[in-house]
Amino acid sequence: MHKNFANTRFLGKSITSLPECHSTNDFMAQLAAKQQVSHGDILTAGFQTKGKGQRGNSWTSEKGKNLLFSIFLKPPFLKIEDIFLLNIIAGLAGTQLINDIVPEAQCQLKWPNDVYVKGNKISGILIETSISKQLDFVVAGIGFNVNQSHFALPTATSLKIETGKDHDLFSVLEKYAHAFENYYGLLESGEKNRVLRTYHDKMYWRGEVHTYRSHGEEFEAELIGINETGNLVLNCAGISKQFRTKEIEFVS
Ligand code: BTN
Repeated sequence: MHKNFANTRFLGKSITSLPECHSTNDFMAQLAAKQQVSHGDILTAGFQTKGKGQRGNSWTSEKGKNLLFSIFLKPPFLKIEDIFLLNIIAGLAGTQLINDIVPEAQCQLKWPNDVYVKGNKISGILIETSISKQLDFVVAGIGFNVNQSHFALPTATSLKIETGKDHDLFSVLEKYAHAFENYYGLLESGEKNRVLRTYHDKMYWRGEVHTYRSHGEEFEAELIGINETGNLVLNCAGISKQFRTKEIEFVS
């Protein structure tokens, strides 16, 4: 099925919706290899047989209930060291979407880009890149829990759980696309610092002391924010330390 968004600049001018596929990220990368996809195209699936999450985890979702989609991007203005900003805006777009639908929700971003409502995860993002001499393309994969009411994990939530009603998947996707395009526009026009300030304002646990695990050791630290390369900055007993995604886990 093919649809498109009328009121966006470039995002979702072509939307392909599959009832099922292995992973929308992988499918889109295959289309890119055959040059069958353009900047801003969106691929959605009703169900994924091999949905991928961060850190090699899988991403599962009940058939037809949630948004599972990938956005194809070719951002010529973005330096390789700034790719993390796409993670940031993909997360921020998720928070804006939730604020549009559930204004009273306390929506936060758990570093790097899990979208949380009242301490429970509503959306996860997996950004994958193809880099040769330069950045060839990016596939931004987003799983957004919309109409699912029950989850195996007690720490997951959905728009239905938060609002008590079902939501039209296509309208939710359109809202997300508008939000993403706005933040993408800020990056295009060089407003990186503005994007980073907004991200810091929404960061889960920022300014609080919590327990973390790194290299098998647990310790308490205060979350300060992210640095200019997107790494997590913690204040560990008065010493500022920086962590990449695979080096640190949030414990409690
Ligand atoms: C996470 O672990 O939080 C990231 C989850 C990303 C899931 C989405 S669903 C659409 C896209 N296709 C995939 O295989 N994964 C991403």
